Amino acid sequence: MKIKESLKTHGQWVGKWTFILAATGSAVGLGNIWGFPYKAGTNGGGAFVLIYLACILIVGLPIMMSEIFLGRRSGTSPVNALRIAAHDTNSSQSWRFVGWSGLAAGIFILSFYSVIAGICINYIFIAAQSSEIVNSAEKFNEVTSSPYNLLFWHSLFIFLTAFIVSLGIKSGIERMVKILMPMLGFLLIFMVISSAINGDFNKAIEFLFAPDFDQVNSQTFLSAMGQAFFSLSLGMGSIMAYGAYMPKDENIVSTSFSVGSLDTLVAILAGLAIFPIIFAFNMEPNSGPGLVFISILTAFNQMEFGNFLGPIFFILLTIAALSSSISLLEPSVAYFAEKQILSRKSSAIAISLFAWTLGIGSALSFNLLSDFYIYDRNFLDFMDFIANQILLPLGGMLIAIFVGWFIPDNLIKEETGDFALFKLWKFFIKFVAPTAVFIIFVSQFI
Ligand code: TRP
Repeated sequence: MKIKESLKTHGQWVGKWTFILAATGSAVGLGNIWGFPYKAGTNGGGAFVLIYLACILIVGLPIMMSEIFLGRRSGTSPVNALRIAAHDTNSSQSWRFVGWSGLAAGIFILSFYSVIAGICINYIFIAAQSSEIVNSAEKFNEVTSSPYNLLFWHSLFIFLTAFIVSLGIKSGIERMVKILMPMLGFLLIFMVISSAINGDFNKAIEFLFAPDFDQVNSQTFLSAMGQAFFSLSLGMGSIMAYGAYMPKDENIVSTSFSVGSLDTLVAILAGLAIFPIIFAFNMEPNSGPGLVFISILTAFNQMEFGNFLGPIFFILLTIAALSSSISLLEPSVAYFAEKQILSRKSSAIAISLFAWTLGIGSALSFNLLSDFYIYDRNFLDFMDFIANQILLPLGGMLIAIFVGWFIPDNLIKEETGDFALFKLWKFFIKFVAPTAVFIIFVSQFI
């Protein structure tokens, strides 16, 4: 393998559980705690949850296994992981462009993710005074109408992300997820218990688990599949990059199930933290993206100990966002560092600076640029569209096709071992996943 020898190596995770912690950290983010509840809320609750679960099982997990397989096999960043696999199977070198498009998607997502995560940090302080806030919609307006305010928190968040990644795999990412993930689990359980006490828990359960299929249309499928991709961090190489640091004796199949289950569990627990208090204070579950910034604040405003519980909720969101954002930056930094274009530190600075600059457009789309539209979308929505509606599904579909059709079984089994469901996985990755993603991808343009 000549390609690999020319690359600087990154080393491996030390702890046995680190991959699971890091990949779960990547998966669990704004997508779970902010996105999942509001999408379930606007798509009729239980029916959406059911379709979402199917997408995770049928499309998400098979692709996740493929990403880990490609990453661990090469031990390199996604671009070179694809290059090496293409080389070893005498396939076209163009496959590496899937890696490149992933790096681009990661930077695009990071740019606006950081703006929203910045608002979460800001809300830790705002929620501490939630009892004094009369109108939370107005408060949200006030927060987002100031370019300086948004840029300040955006800068802080992206700085934290770059700082962690610059410290490297062991002293940066591994150390952080070992602290952040247990904290996140603890805070989330605390929030669910508190909502069960303060809120209307039964109504929330009914809303999330009693499917109402009248609300289902093709849009529901599109939304559920997009959410599954985004939530599992698939299609751009986050999981592939983390897989590259996974020791060889760890089991790819069971690990993927653990990460997928934990991610889904957190999304559902987030729903059980949010909806009970939404219902208890007679608010509608389908308020959309404003659900966690506006409706939740109104609820905390009326709640006993709201000034204490509110900040905890937003600390939870911030932690979840941070453990995800590092996985958006890592693939590009790993690429620059292994090619020795720049040191890891300088790469982290340079790439995050680029994402930061791009993020200015998203921050300003709330205020100065609110009338600026690209193809009917403001700047933030446009970035989101390019990454989530185009690059991620395309990336995921191509990864499925590459692994399903171009990599011989024996090469795959060298990494995964011979597992009981191999034939089923192969069927999913070869036929079901690419077709499902393709249909849903194309249907959005019709
Ligand atoms: N999965 C994260 C969330 O739910 C976001 C994220 C991190 C992501 N890395 C990714 C999304 C890679 C898509 C691709 O918030």
